Amino acid sequence: AAKGRLICVSNRVGTVRGAPLAGGLAVALSSALIANRGLWFGWSGKTASEAGAVVLEEINGINVATLDLPTADFDHYYAGYANGCLWPLCHFRLDLVQFAREHYDAYRRINALIARRLADLLKPDDRIWVHDYHLIPLAEELRALGCRNRIGFFLHIPTPPHELLAALPRHRELMGSLLHYDVVGLQTEADRHRLHDYAVRELGCSVTDDGMNCGTRRIRTGAFPVGIDVDEFVGYATSPRALQESRRMSKLLDGRTQVIGVDRLDYSKGLLRRAAGFERLLEKYPRAQRNVEFLQVTPISRGEVRAYQDFRTELEALASHINGRFGTFDWTPLRYLNKALPQRTLAALYRASRIGLVTPIRDGMNLVAKEYVAAQDPEDPGVLILSSFAGAAEQMGDDALLVNPYDPDDVADALERARWMSLEERIERHRDLMAGMRRQSADHWQRSYLEALDGDAPAVPAGH
Ligand code: UDP
Ligand code: G6P
Repeated sequence: AAKGRLICVSNRVGTVRGAPLAGGLAVALSSALIANRGLWFGWSGKTASEAGAVVLEEINGINVATLDLPTADFDHYYAGYANGCLWPLCHFRLDLVQFAREHYDAYRRINALIARRLADLLKPDDRIWVHDYHLIPLAEELRALGCRNRIGFFLHIPTPPHELLAALPRHRELMGSLLHYDVVGLQTEADRHRLHDYAVRELGCSVTDDGMNCGTRRIRTGAFPVGIDVDEFVGYATSPRALQESRRMSKLLDGRTQVIGVDRLDYSKGLLRRAAGFERLLEKYPRAQRNVEFLQVTPISRGEVRAYQDFRTELEALASHINGRFGTFDWTPLRYLNKALPQRTLAALYRASRIGLVTPIRDGMNLVAKEYVAAQDPEDPGVLILSSFAGAAEQMGDDALLVNPYDPDDVADALERARWMSLEERIERHRDLMAGMRRQSADHWQRSYLEALDGDAPAVPAGH
């Protein structure tokens, strides 16, 4: 049977600003939408005194529907609940969680508003795919308006363990709203197990091979690791312009090894500990001094949230401490940038860097790890150092150098090992990483998710 439209809903609509897409969700979704006859529904990036009407436009070949969100609720919804409470909780930072009832109430109101606007343009055979922690209650709100469409949810960030979730006020109400989806997708098997464990203990669900049963409701769950469009990145990295840029970079490096990190300025990315690991390298292996340069590209993110402001201040202090301690008049150990760069530029920088350093303390997936690998020269590839706490470690763990980001010596040793790794070993690791990324590409991600969403209606369990 002909399928209806695919409507993806997310808070951040990547193509809206036309600026570089900083953030894995927007990057992954734009590939999914280009491959489908999709409509991308979400926030316009602006607030207004009253909620706006939905504006439809076509941007870069994607149909986009956006609305302005009401100023009065927006901060409580986005900075307050989504990024001041859910984000730290899901990244295992209970110490940073700021819960306030008025934030949660605004979050619910924004979800109800988005549901009303979306319901107005729904056709009966549309399939709806909701993304990320900003919009967990959206299906419940849509169902309350009578929507019977297939609705799927995908969480791009980690699922925390039951013990952490239980600390969230009204956690059963929030998590229970997941039971209104037909499919709930997570990044990794570990995330899926944690969701099942929570649902069994707190929501009275029972777990089956491919999902959960809860009363008469049957919810399919699955691990769908987000991938990248490998060939697109290879293309970026091998364009004449990128090759010229990476040659220019190599000249500037003058034989020194470049280590690269690319992250939104976020405490979950482990940037302070990463800098400490780099400092440890210079201390422990003095011959690395003057021979290594660390380039950290760090666009400012969520600057309105207090925890991000504090983290930025600390990071700036540590970066200048390291440069002050080790720098010489003709060598700057750490170059720290606060600009968002377009992916084409990133590709050239990745390629000119012998080491990709990706050490989040927790991460749903981490696409930078994948992009770094895709951008390498297969005949002389660099080495990926990856935190074992990134979702990507479930797929890349055998061929990247895995580290514990909490241990500066572990990071320093991995950097030193990567510096001296033989060409043969680098080629072999790179080849295996590329093969894995081609199997689990962005396209594979969206196809396998949609197959689950379009699959046979789940049977109501026996006994109901
Ligand atoms: N990114 C970018 N420009 C930048 C920094 C990041 O385009 O200056 C992109 C990067 O290429 C990647 C995404 O933002 O595709 C970050 O995704 P990731 O999964 O690594 O982390 P997230 O930001 O989603 O937590
Ligand atoms: C992560 C989240 C996305 C978010 C992105 C950028 O990738 O999973 O939902 O869009 O970060 O963050 P921002 O707050 O700028 O949308």
